[in-house]
Amino acid sequence: MVIDTNKAFKEIQTYLHTLTGIYLDSSKHTMMKNRLDSLKQFPVFDNITTASELIALANRNPQARQLFINAFTTNQTDFFREKVHFQDMLDRVLPALFKNQFNIKIYCAASSTGEEPYSIAATVLYACEVYNSSCDVEIYASDIDTKVLQDAKDGVFTLSPTLSLPTWINMDKYFDTLQVFANGTKTIRAKSTLKKMIKFFQLNLHDTTYPFRQDEFDIIFCRNVLIYFQPKEQEAILQRLLRTLKPNGTLYIGHADDILGLKDKVERLGNKTYIKIRD
Ligand SMILES: C[S@@+](CC[C@H](N)C(=O)[O-])C[C@H]1O[C@@H](n2cnc3c(N)ncnc32)[C@H](O)[C@@H]1O
Repeated sequence: MVIDTNKAFKEIQTYLHTLTGIYLDSSKHTMMKNRLDSLKQFPVFDNITTASELIALANRNPQARQLFINAFTTNQTDFFREKVHFQDMLDRVLPALFKNQFNIKIYCAASSTGEEPYSIAATVLYACEVYNSSCDVEIYASDIDTKVLQDAKDGVFTLSPTLSLPTWINMDKYFDTLQVFANGTKTIRAKSTLKKMIKFFQLNLHDTTYPFRQDEFDIIFCRNVLIYFQPKEQEAILQRLLRTLKPNGTLYIGHADDILGLKDKVERLGNKTYIKIRD
C-alpha cells in the first residue's frame, strides 16, 4: 500500500476523518504508513496498492471498512487509570446516589479493551459493600473498535505487578487469576459478578445522534478519546454526551481533555470532573 505522495496521505486522512472523526495531521505520515502496513495481514486487502483502491474497497466492504477503522484507533488504557475519578465516585457520587435512587446508570464512552469499565464496576461493587447498598447499577461501555470490544467482552487481562492501584481495591475479589509469571505479571479474568454489570456495544462518537435518552445517565466517563478529534468535534461530542447526562450528573474527562465551550453548562470540581447544571 503506497502513500508516498501528499495526495495519498490526504485521501486517507480525509476518509478516516469522515468515518471516525479521528484527525491525523501531516506529522503523522509514518504512523499512517505503519497502520496501513498492519492491514496486509488481512486477505481482504490483497492486491490493494493505492489509497483510492483502499477507500473504494472500504466503501463497498463493511468488513474491510471496520478493519481499516480498527487499525487507526489507539487503545492505550489501564485499570484505575487516573485514579482520582474512581476515588471521587467512591467518596462523593455513589453514596449520594445510593441515598436517593434504586437504579444507577453509568456510561463509559471509548472503553477500549475494558479495563476502564471493569474498574468502574469494581468500584461500584466495593461501594455497595462499604455503604451497604443494594442499588441496581448498569454500566454501558462502548467503542468504535470491534477488536477491543471483543477483548473487553472476554474480560481476560494482563496485570503488571508495578501497576499502581487504589489501596482499597482487592483485585482478587473481582478477578480470577489464571496464570502467574516469574516476574509477578498475572493473567486475570473478570468474575461474572463484574461482567454481568456491563453492556458492551459499538458506538461511533462521531455519529451525530447517540442511542440514549436525554438525562439517561448519572455518571459519564469520556476519557482520553477527545484528543483524537479537532476542537469543534470535541465540543460537539461533549455536547451530545452532556445531553444524556442527568442534571447534577457527573462527567469525567481525561487529564489532557478540555471542556471547551461548554463551561457555562457545567460546574467544575477540579481534576477534570464536572457536574451538569444545564443542557
Ligand atoms: C486511548 S483509548 C482510551 C481508553 C479509556 N477511555 C481510557 O481512558 O483509558 C481511546 C479509545 O477511543 C476509541 N475511539 C477512537 N475514535 C472513536 C470514535 N469515533 N468513537 C468511539 N470510540 C473511539 C479507540 O478505539 C480507543 O479504544
